[in-house]
Amino acid sequence: MSRGNLFLIFVLVSPSWEICCSQRGVTSIDPVIERKVDSLLALMTVEEKVGQLNQLAGQWDENARRVILTDEQRNLMKRGLVGSFLNVTGSELTREFQRIAVNESRLHIPLIFALDVIHGLRTTFPIPLAEASSWDPEAAEMSARIAAREASAFGINWTFAPMVDIARDPRWGRIAEGSGEDPYLGSMMAAARVRGFQGSGFHDSTSLVACAKHFAAYGAAEAGRDYNTVDISEQTLRDIYLPPFRAAVDAGVGTLMSAFNEIAGVPSTANHKLLTTILRSEWGFKGFVVSDWEAVEELQEHGIAGTPGEAALKAITAGVDMDMATQLYIKHLPEMVESGALSMGALNEAVRRVLRVKFALGLFENPYRNCHPELENEVVVTAQSRGAARKIAGESIVLLKNANALLPLKKDIRTLAVIGSLANSKVDPLGPWAGFFGRPEDVVTVLEGIKAKVSANTQILYARGCESRFSDTTGFGEAVRAAQGADAIVLVVGETRDMSGEASSRSDIGLPGVQEELVKRVYAAGHPLVLVLMNGRPLTIAWEAANIPAIIESWFLGVETGNAVASVLFGDLNPSGKLPVSFPRTVGQIPIYYNHKNTGRPFVEKEKYTSKFLDLPNTPLFPFGYGMSYTSFSYSNLRVMSLKVRKHESVTVSIEVKNTGAQAGDDVVQLYVHDDVASNTRPVKELNGFRRITLNPEESKTVEFTVDTDRLGFHNSDMKYVVEPGKFKVFIGGNSVDCLEGSFELTE
Ligand code: NOJ
Repeated sequence: MSRGNLFLIFVLVSPSWEICCSQRGVTSIDPVIERKVDSLLALMTVEEKVGQLNQLAGQWDENARRVILTDEQRNLMKRGLVGSFLNVTGSELTREFQRIAVNESRLHIPLIFALDVIHGLRTTFPIPLAEASSWDPEAAEMSARIAAREASAFGINWTFAPMVDIARDPRWGRIAEGSGEDPYLGSMMAAARVRGFQGSGFHDSTSLVACAKHFAAYGAAEAGRDYNTVDISEQTLRDIYLPPFRAAVDAGVGTLMSAFNEIAGVPSTANHKLLTTILRSEWGFKGFVVSDWEAVEELQEHGIAGTPGEAALKAITAGVDMDMATQLYIKHLPEMVESGALSMGALNEAVRRVLRVKFALGLFENPYRNCHPELENEVVVTAQSRGAARKIAGESIVLLKNANALLPLKKDIRTLAVIGSLANSKVDPLGPWAGFFGRPEDVVTVLEGIKAKVSANTQILYARGCESRFSDTTGFGEAVRAAQGADAIVLVVGETRDMSGEASSRSDIGLPGVQEELVKRVYAAGHPLVLVLMNGRPLTIAWEAANIPAIIESWFLGVETGNAVASVLFGDLNPSGKLPVSFPRTVGQIPIYYNHKNTGRPFVEKEKYTSKFLDLPNTPLFPFGYGMSYTSFSYSNLRVMSLKVRKHESVTVSIEVKNTGAQAGDDVVQLYVHDDVASNTRPVKELNGFRRITLNPEESKTVEFTVDTDRLGFHNSDMKYVVEPGKFKVFIGGNSVDCLEGSFELTE
């Protein structure tokens, strides 16, 4: 059939050729699109259907130094056996691939091109964990929007982001890619990023289809070892790990990615309960699910499939619509349909979900909608995107300690020692996942940022000290000399960017290599010392926290790292970030998270038989929600407007926050709740709301929260979401520990 005939069929069955896709993403069924999908499905062979479920990876050619089109790929495309590519990017290349799919295959179905656009394309933003420290969903939405605008000019239609996995174990390297330990903060960030990537709707050619990953509970890997077994209760799954996915679905996310891990014996990639019962039946998700890389094939390694065919059958039957990188679907599903093991109805449903997204994107009308060679260089790292990157990086910095108001430093300081290989690194600030497009030359290093900030008379003494992950100490002498000759020292230590992210779990999360020794040697010089941490996870830095007067957590902040860090160091920016994750004192405390249960024997000082360690306090080194400012805030007058509230109603809670210091600053006001007595045990505190506010010196604001009682529930032992009457405590403060307390009674 010619392309013209095919188009005619679509036009005949659709009242309008225009795809009405005003909604963000794929939250509801659009009858126009459904009819187009029906008419296309009716034309497809089983092989062509299965082809839509096949995602191939771009092949890197070492000689050409680029991704190339292989003969096998061309052949498969011509036969209609490829639905999508990942890692094929750039207008020129995607156009070449798309041209084959659209012009040389029988049904001319366009490809959808995917890439991991995690924290920016060329304009690299802070890693997601850092961005979550801003507690500013609008910032997350903005960075995702800019990332989408850049990526969508390079032929990319679909990003494998946001990563919304809750992580309670900082040994897990992928904690860097998510929003930390809390389901509520994680949900706010997940929804914001989906909104940012998907923009005003798929019809907008600067939109990317988002992909909430990794479904589900990937962050609960035992011992924090990547890809490891997960065995958690269904309550914990539903109350802690699933809410950010639900938030992404409610925000209209177009796709989800199944996770590598198993949960209680069932790999996510073959988990019907997760992918079908919960995601589709309970939540009404209408988009499609892609497997993670080779995860379909790995069902054999998991030991639940004896053959590649069985693996493919289990995955599609569970609800994985698209197979990433293994070709098992195209190799085995046709025979499964033939034998009756896979019903045509089930196959059609998976294909429908993929086509639905392609239609919504408008790829059938304009398969090249994201191929803009003329835009490629124009849209990246613009003054505007750099400005946004600087603002977000600034908000993401967390001031952990500032004894005797050592910070901010004076710009006209006479001599400043800047020490550490990370201070001068153009690569590490990009963080994990900046691989494809992030460019070191776009990065402002900490050293460069400092140099640009200090007075013309300031002398900077830079010394490498040591490489962050190696054991060579030969640079220590130079570092100590610089420290001894300086009025103050900025020492940048932490992890290289490849020490967090995928397959980068660590069993010891202290400062790597010989950096702790370097810190001690520099500290011994006896001059005012500021530690700047650069890392993708919480670190165990008990000695530093006890001894170093000022500590800044900068994570990996992207291209504007140096400018943001220097702004905080020299007081142009008052830090306001708050930790989205607890910092343990030692690895032995892990997992450690603020929303833990009370136990029957909560810790009581000096009482032996209570829940505690003999050698450590239960508390973290720095708690969830914690972060300092150069000013101070006082909290007073917590008011609960109604002491009794009925189910399905809401209660207003307010607090007065005053800036009691000498300069303007932002604080993140945090509201926590606790269900006093319930049919199942409840966490000691759960974040229920937060608000970022700006206050001038002496200024006060009354901050109001509306507590929606429908959100006070949990999954009981029958897996029913219940909101139970009784007393609820509310806590409001600037972190999860220092809060004022009130309460109300929930009645039937
Ligand atoms: C494996 C990772 O787990 C996933 O997050 C990523 O999107 C895919 N590889 C594709 O690069």
